[in-house]
Amino acid sequence: MPAPEDWIARPGAPLHGTLDVPGDKSVSHRAVMFASLADGSSRITGFLEGEDTRATAAVFSRLGVRIEAPAPGERLVHGVGIDGLRAPGAALECGNAGTAMRLLAGLLAGQRFDSALVGDASLSRRPMGRVIDPLAAMGARISSDAGRAPLRIHGGAALRGIDYATPVASAQVKSAILLAGLYADGITTVREPHPTRDYTERMLRAFGYEVAIADGAVSLRGGGRLRATDVAVPADFSSAAFFIVAATLVPGSEVALRRVGVHPRRTGLLRALVAMGADLEVRPLDGEPGGEPVADIVVRHAPLRGIELPRDWVADMIDEFPAFCVAAACAQGATTIRGAAELRVKESDRIAAMATGLRQLGIVVEEAPDGAVIHGGRFRAGAAAGVGASGGADPAVAIESHGDHRIAMAFAIAAQLADGPVRIRDVANVATSFPGFDTLARDAGFGLARADSR
Ligand code: S3P
Repeated sequence: MPAPEDWIARPGAPLHGTLDVPGDKSVSHRAVMFASLADGSSRITGFLEGEDTRATAAVFSRLGVRIEAPAPGERLVHGVGIDGLRAPGAALECGNAGTAMRLLAGLLAGQRFDSALVGDASLSRRPMGRVIDPLAAMGARISSDAGRAPLRIHGGAALRGIDYATPVASAQVKSAILLAGLYADGITTVREPHPTRDYTERMLRAFGYEVAIADGAVSLRGGGRLRATDVAVPADFSSAAFFIVAATLVPGSEVALRRVGVHPRRTGLLRALVAMGADLEVRPLDGEPGGEPVADIVVRHAPLRGIELPRDWVADMIDEFPAFCVAAACAQGATTIRGAAELRVKESDRIAAMATGLRQLGIVVEEAPDGAVIHGGRFRAGAAAGVGASGGADPAVAIESHGDHRIAMAFAIAAQLADGPVRIRDVANVATSFPGFDTLARDAGFGLARADSR
């Protein structure tokens, strides 16, 4: 559990530079998982050195996989084969990582041994019924605390393939079922209400496993094997998103983000910002490491106007709403977000967290169960309240991140446009997805410092 830590964020300089954000979280999790289950050794480059993805690597070490870290961002995974995992001695710690817990639930349901998955306070509040129910329909035996972690997975169950239509568009649910499907008798099929990121399907194919995709349904037959392969992880679009929004909003900015994964199921934010008037240039690169499309993205400041966000763009930008809400708050006119109830069960209730923080900064927000209407305005941080221990002015506004990495980073952007400093509370979890964010942001021009004490 990271120690509580706050930032003081304030207007800095126009943003400039060529920025390399860390590796993709979704791809890094999956690369370790499939490399662990493969026959042979796989090298992963661009691996995200975040707490979430390191938690996944630590879990596989506990399951008997030898994983070397020859350099930062690199892992050499000595796969044990599809049936080579060993019983862990203790509960497996997933930390803050929903992807780790949900995908592991599917994978562990197919093992011969018992296991338990635990997480931090935020992860222990998140719904797990969405994976437990379909896995139970496959024959898995999983007990939980009323649909929440800790999860106890009873090994030795004979799994059978199912044809399952997920009620929510969730790549984690789809992936959990497909991972269990590797161990199931017959064919497992997953159908989604809206297509989600398909890294699991693509990576299974890259590891030599046959996956059929037709008419929005993904199917595989259990009982096959995975062949080791190297994976080059692109930069995480969701981390790049904070700089894309910040450079759009701060007058005089121009930044270039290098080798970013631009998977169409991840880049809804680009569509939304362009519709609002953003100045974005996406320069596709050759090579597509590991089959992922990558591009350099150049962003220049531009004024934005509010939009009604099409509902069918929501899934393609599901992780980008904290940053998007800040963009909406700076746009001229209102922005309407609907069909985004999933935001309430992310690392925090992101609709409530953003509405509360934006209101603290003087923005009018009408909250709805599945979204919000955000009326563009100016961020008012108010006068400094006093002189802090460091001799600096203590911000009048303190915004709660709820321990949610993306809420913390979103308000660091908002503060760049405010009329005074803003305290952002409980930011240590930024290291789950974006270690080094504060340093990179400062180098680019952000006014951002660690607070000495509360
Ligand atoms: C992820 C899927 C999404 C996303 C999360 C990562 C993945 O979650 O929000 O950050 O790697 O599969 P849902 O599947 O719950 O939408």
